[in-house]
Amino acid sequence: MRHCVRVLALMFAAGMIIPAMKTAAAPYRLQQKVDFIRDIQPIFQASCYPCHGTGKVQTRLRLVDRSLAMSVIVAGNSRESRLMHRILGLGGEPRMPMGAQPLKPEQIDLIRKWIDEGADWPESAAAEATVLKDQSTITQHWAFIAPRCPSLPPVQNNAWAKNPIDRFLLARIEQQGLTPSPEAAAGLDLALLRLRSC
Ligand code: HEC
Repeated sequence: MRHCVRVLALMFAAGMIIPAMKTAAAPYRLQQKVDFIRDIQPIFQASCYPCHGTGKVQTRLRLVDRSLAMSVIVAGNSRESRLMHRILGLGGEPRMPMGAQPLKPEQIDLIRKWIDEGADWPESAAAEATVLKDQSTITQHWAFIAPRCPSLPPVQNNAWAKNPIDRFLLARIEQQGLTPSPEAAAGLDLALLRLRSC
């Protein structure tokens, strides 16, 4: 009897623990629906667009919008998709990306899952890819523009501004038709500090 109870307890524990372990072990991304913009486009961007993008293209295949990519994808069926065959290097044809390291197994799994889930490819994604490929757009992004020291804006109340940052603040305050509040007395500052530290 005692033995039976122990076995039952073990089975119960295993029933609880094993599914939990399975969930924990599966890569996080593969549990949710694959998102083209988040999961797939960055792979294409890094590994495929140099030759299949909008720029100087090396092949007829452009993986930049759904209608073009569908020539090598069978939505809902990764096994039948030429894109899968090529990234796996099947059929004796060169493995893609050509002349580079193969995609990582988790990247291949994501692409496979994305195709099997219907190969959703939002309209906005194509636009984004084109924008990213367009070098002139890239160089116009603020991150690529070297910081320049701006000239100080003119202000009416010159005496108020003690440093360049004040000048920018004051210019904005005056632009709004406002005047700066009077400076707090030193004693008040101290009182506020005391209050804050309470
Ligand atoms: C260095 C350039 C280069 C890169 C990078 C590259 N490819 Fe290719 N790809 C080619 C060339 C060249 C061909 C045409 C010759 C051939 O089919 O082998 C081709 C052909 C293909 C084809 C067959 C097209 C057809 O019409 O049958 C597929 C599918 C493909 N590539 C997918 C990819 C994918 C997916 C990636 C990224 C993971 C990728 N390629 C990265 C150069 C490249």
